[in-house]
Amino acid sequence: MPIDTWFPLAVYYEDLPDATAHKKQLMDAALQLEKDGYERRAFPEMAWTGDLHGAERIHTDPRFTWIVGQVESHVQGYLKGLGLDLNQIALYIQRAWPVISRYQQEVGSHCHNTSHISAVYYVSVPNSGSDEAGSLVFFDDMRPNEVSPGLGSENTNIIVEWNALNQDQAMYVPVEGRLILFPSKQRHGVTMNHTEGERISLSFDIVLAAKPGSAAGSYEFLLPPPEQWQRFGGRS
Ligand SMILES: [Fe+2]
Repeated sequence: MPIDTWFPLAVYYEDLPDATAHKKQLMDAALQLEKDGYERRAFPEMAWTGDLHGAERIHTDPRFTWIVGQVESHVQGYLKGLGLDLNQIALYIQRAWPVISRYQQEVGSHCHNTSHISAVYYVSVPNSGSDEAGSLVFFDDMRPNEVSPGLGSENTNIIVEWNALNQDQAMYVPVEGRLILFPSKQRHGVTMNHTEGERISLSFDIVLAAKPGSAAGSYEFLLPPPEQWQRFGGRS
């Protein structure tokens, strides 16, 4: 009795070969940005995230040049895998920031609503390869096989066996030196850091736009080139 499965979520990952050589510089830079940042705005049980604290442009910071190049290269590989014609598309890093999660801190579930592809790179992970420092969890809000809506909620015990056909989340343990790419609209979060160490990662939000003069007919589905935009009051 075959049961087919369809419509996969594509999550890309790669262990970067030069990770160890760059670890110290990236760690030091992330910790320095935290120190330089504004007064803490997040709740104590939430990880420190640069985007909330004035450190959301590490893509323009020379200390992060290596990882920015890696993100650019791997995002293109990811998009090719998704069947896109990169000749018609211009890619932008919209914002990028460090995340530092300490003992008993986590990142609640969220989507990156202003971008298209998100990346995370694990700079430093206590007990790397285990879930102890906090895993990245993707949530499936579509739930195509939840034939009676809500049946998988925590308020029922009707589902007695969690398997590949009814799973509503997918968990990635953090691995030092690993880059992960995923659609920004996919809801996700990071589980609690149970270690005494600092879990340091970098997040990137990437936007797709049409290249000027190409992608004709696609502007309903792809941002027009930002060069063609005009800010209010920008008439000369
Ligand atoms: Fe996120």
